[in-house]
Amino acid sequence: MSQKKIVLREDEMPTQWYNICPDIPNGLQPPLDPGTKEPVAPEKLAAIFPMGLLEQEMSPNRWIDIPEEIREVYKIWRPAPLVRAYKLEQALGTKAKIYYKNEGVSPNGSHKPNSAVAQAYFNKREGITRLATETGAGQWGSALCFATSKFGLDCKVYMVRVSFDQKPYRKTMMQTFNGTVVASPSPDTNTGRAFLEKDPNTPGSLGIAISEAIEDAATNDGTNYALGSVLNHVILHQTIVGLEAKKQMEIAGDYPDVVVGCCGGGSNFAGLAVPFVADALEGKKTRFVGVEPASCPTMTKGRLAYDFGDTGQTTPLLQMHTLGHDFVSPGIHAGGLRYHGMAPIVSALVREKIIEPVSVHQLETFEAGVLFARTEGIIPAPETCHAIRGAIIEATRELNEPKTILFNLSGHGLLDLSAYEQYFNGELHDYEYPAAAIEESMKHLPQL
Ligand SMILES: Cc1ncc(COP(=O)(O)O)c(C=O)c1O
Repeated sequence: MSQKKIVLREDEMPTQWYNICPDIPNGLQPPLDPGTKEPVAPEKLAAIFPMGLLEQEMSPNRWIDIPEEIREVYKIWRPAPLVRAYKLEQALGTKAKIYYKNEGVSPNGSHKPNSAVAQAYFNKREGITRLATETGAGQWGSALCFATSKFGLDCKVYMVRVSFDQKPYRKTMMQTFNGTVVASPSPDTNTGRAFLEKDPNTPGSLGIAISEAIEDAATNDGTNYALGSVLNHVILHQTIVGLEAKKQMEIAGDYPDVVVGCCGGGSNFAGLAVPFVADALEGKKTRFVGVEPASCPTMTKGRLAYDFGDTGQTTPLLQMHTLGHDFVSPGIHAGGLRYHGMAPIVSALVREKIIEPVSVHQLETFEAGVLFARTEGIIPAPETCHAIRGAIIEATRELNEPKTILFNLSGHGLLDLSAYEQYFNGELHDYEYPAAAIEESMKHLPQL
């Protein structure tokens, strides 16, 4: 019988994360202080982040130890299985081999706890008692509530209004893990109140929710801010996905020709991809395909520029692909892919033509997700459906080409069934973000 799943023992879990920053050709541009336009001083960021994470954010070291306490919590679900999608391959009639790393087996159903646990740990170590954060789809918020509950911290989550309404059970999951959740914009912050005054019916956006969480952290003692994607330290934590996958691919006797992932802020894709990028930089011929929605085409239509990470213009300026910090996307169901920017690490790898970005439409992603469920037996998160669609495009472009495809199954969709219901009822539509709206947003980019 052929091997379906490759499972590592707990003592085979990686003991270090991989930091790609020192290996990126032509390097990363530093974050800038929006006032002075000079590189931002770490002390300024220390108001909302612990030093342990800031050191990782700026570290010149390739390898960073994973503390034992974090590995203990990871053991609840890690190492995560690598699975060969035989039935999907058969259904597609392709000679390609398709593997996926199943991050949906975590306590809240996605890759997000890989960083949430690390962030809760480093904050706790420095005496912080409460974290404030934003969440789009609810995956990051529920991951952080799980993680803070493991380390005895409180957690306040600003959840983008449209997801708050669409995903009531994510809210319940956060409450189960002892978190407090409000719809963003909320009446709890100056930023939230200002946005509500402008438009009481606003669907909210990740950019607004980030501004609210940062304000909360900056104005409450003992509270820090936690971000679920985009930043270097988040991608660092997510590299455990790719490091495990490398060991598992070796056991399978294979190596990926193509690595595929969906891209919101870039963390699940980069987490899987960058350990393989390290090999590509040394000559391996692997392609890296980042898949984003056509309704939020950050890499394919946005500009590589310095921009704010939030709508309220409170963060340092990051050099990244951006649609403009005032971007408010239509309420497509893949809530976790609706961020206006892209991780500086992913943006730099796109700039260096190492990552190939593609955009796909909503309906083709659900079609891919349903095929995956009917063949492989797992209902994927709507975000993940983008990665599956990307993998299917790769596997069917040349049906007789025996290539090896690896994608990140970043989460299951068991709390996203209302989106599937709308899909089956014909209530979902494709939407391409208009070029004119992007042009308009570009006018508001900070001037350097
Ligand atoms: C299941 C899932 N996949 C992917 C993403 C996108 O985030 P990132 O690009 O940081 O991995 C999210 C974000 O919420 C998510 O919940």
